[in-house]
Amino acid sequence: MDEGVKLRHFDCIHFRQQFGSPRLIYPVAFPVKDAFNTEEHQTMTSKNGSRIAVVTGAGKKSGIGYEVCRQLAKAGMTVILTGRDGAAVEERTHELKAQGLDVLGRALDVTSASSVASLSAFLAESFGRVDVLVNNAPATSTYGEQPSTADLERARESMDATLFGGWRVAQALVSLLKKSEHGRVVNVSSGAGSHGDPAFGLTTKNSMGPAYAVAKAAVNALTVTLANELRSANVLVNAVCPGFTATFPGAESMGARPVADGAASVVWAAVLADDGPSGGFFRDGKPLPW
Ligand SMILES: NC(=O)c1ccc[n+]([C@@H]2O[C@H](COP(=O)([O-])OP(=O)(O)OC[C@H]3O[C@@H](n4cnc5c(N)ncnc54)[C@H](OP(=O)(O)O)[C@@H]3O)[C@@H](O)[C@H]2O)c1
Repeated sequence: MDEGVKLRHFDCIHFRQQFGSPRLIYPVAFPVKDAFNTEEHQTMTSKNGSRIAVVTGAGKKSGIGYEVCRQLAKAGMTVILTGRDGAAVEERTHELKAQGLDVLGRALDVTSASSVASLSAFLAESFGRVDVLVNNAPATSTYGEQPSTADLERARESMDATLFGGWRVAQALVSLLKKSEHGRVVNVSSGAGSHGDPAFGLTTKNSMGPAYAVAKAAVNALTVTLANELRSANVLVNAVCPGFTATFPGAESMGARPVADGAASVVWAAVLADDGPSGGFFRDGKPLPW
């Protein structure tokens, strides 16, 4: 067994210990290649059957999206790391490849239809399918605003990125997701959009602002409708809250948890078994009310 294979085997055990569920599935271990071009990828994919995972908003080093990419790649997936800043995407991709992980970088602005179409065309040509889509981008807050006085133009922008961004990407990739035998869509949502979150939810002061909260509630609603549509295609669609996570300086002292934990909450829904839930809202694998 080579080192890469051993590492993946360890990770599978680690994930199982963490989530305690034999129903979580991970791809069978396969040898790691440090660098490859698209042509080699096609060959590799068909040879080893690794799952193809696309993660949005993953260019920021301290962000949840980047860590989700790392965890999915460590679980044996081929990860397409995307973000709106091309230079940051390149840097993050190099860092993960240097760890022996199977990662490709692509620039993607989820608010741009042409950028999304270009990603979709690339994925269709390179892989012919997508197994996992993690709609992680973005986090557009309107701190300090109140619903009665909120700047509606900013609210519209927030909606366009937070709700329509993921919706746009899901629409563009749906035909590729349907080609997967284990399609998964994970919409990264937030307790801020929930009636049931006592710390950040809709009935609290909601420090992230009304536009963010409303957009995340809408993401949860979209999740249910998309899950219903894709159930017959065996694509599981869930919304996930990563919990209050330390993605900005000083967050830990405010009680935020490590990025690895927030990301693991997201990864849970990306690696669900085929008989796993669809149309739900979860944190750390447990249902949340919304
Ligand atoms: N952190 C938390 O406590 C927490 C709690 C609940 C839910 N969440 C959710 O978890 C997800 C990740 O949160 P985070 O804290 O890691 O956020 P973050 O640090 O603000 O990172 C968000 C990422 O999204 C990217 N992005 C912004 N607009 C984009 C666009 N139009 N197209 C593509 N990418 C775009 C950003 O790119 P740039 O680097 O270029 O700005 C950044 O890389 C978000 O959906 C957030 O709402 C977070």
